[in-house]
Amino acid sequence: MDERVHICNNPALQEKLTILRDKDTSDRKFSELVGEMSPLLAYEAMAGIPTEEVEVMTPLASAKGRRIGATIALVPVLRAALGMVEGIRRLMPNLRVYHLGMFRDEETLTPQWYLNKLPPVLSSDGIYFLLDPMLATGNTAVAALVELKERGAKRITYIGLIAAPEGVANVLKHFPDVHIFTAALDDRLNEKGYILPGLGDAGDRQYGT
Ligand code: URA
Repeated sequence: MDERVHICNNPALQEKLTILRDKDTSDRKFSELVGEMSPLLAYEAMAGIPTEEVEVMTPLASAKGRRIGATIALVPVLRAALGMVEGIRRLMPNLRVYHLGMFRDEETLTPQWYLNKLPPVLSSDGIYFLLDPMLATGNTAVAALVELKERGAKRITYIGLIAAPEGVANVLKHFPDVHIFTAALDDRLNEKGYILPGLGDAGDRQYGT
């Protein structure tokens, strides 16, 4: 396996993924699981981020501690990644969140933009977590990564729930320095660009549409 692809095998995460895939899981439960799985993945993905030493006073004495020493932003692709945001914010409260809106043209499988809340210039020493639950063709991820890079982002990590080999190859071909964190690498895409076995449409299943 490519060292840039991190498949997180934590049993708690894998059990949640199994319930998430099940076609009989309700919308409500599905959303809850997306919210619970995302910080588990982010926890793995944030392992290498810089920290700085700080001092706090306990009731008894001063103690050395550490806090995150970098500007971090989440970049969720609407609408499916919306459910990933809050859980990760609980892990890293001082985050910025820059929403991107893209939907997939079902015929060409190309992303169509409708929202881009990235600031014109991004800090080159910031750490950016691109969020999208399903890395399918990779076309949406590549479009988002182009925007992030053009605005100055250097360190970008992709976090998703399920990836297809086609999407992983597409992202790594265009952005060899991006790391991908996912709970599963599935078999392939079907002719409509859905991941097999996957879980269906992550947006529809969260919002019952
Ligand atoms: N988007 C989804 O929601 N599911 C897929 O399988 C592929 C793209």
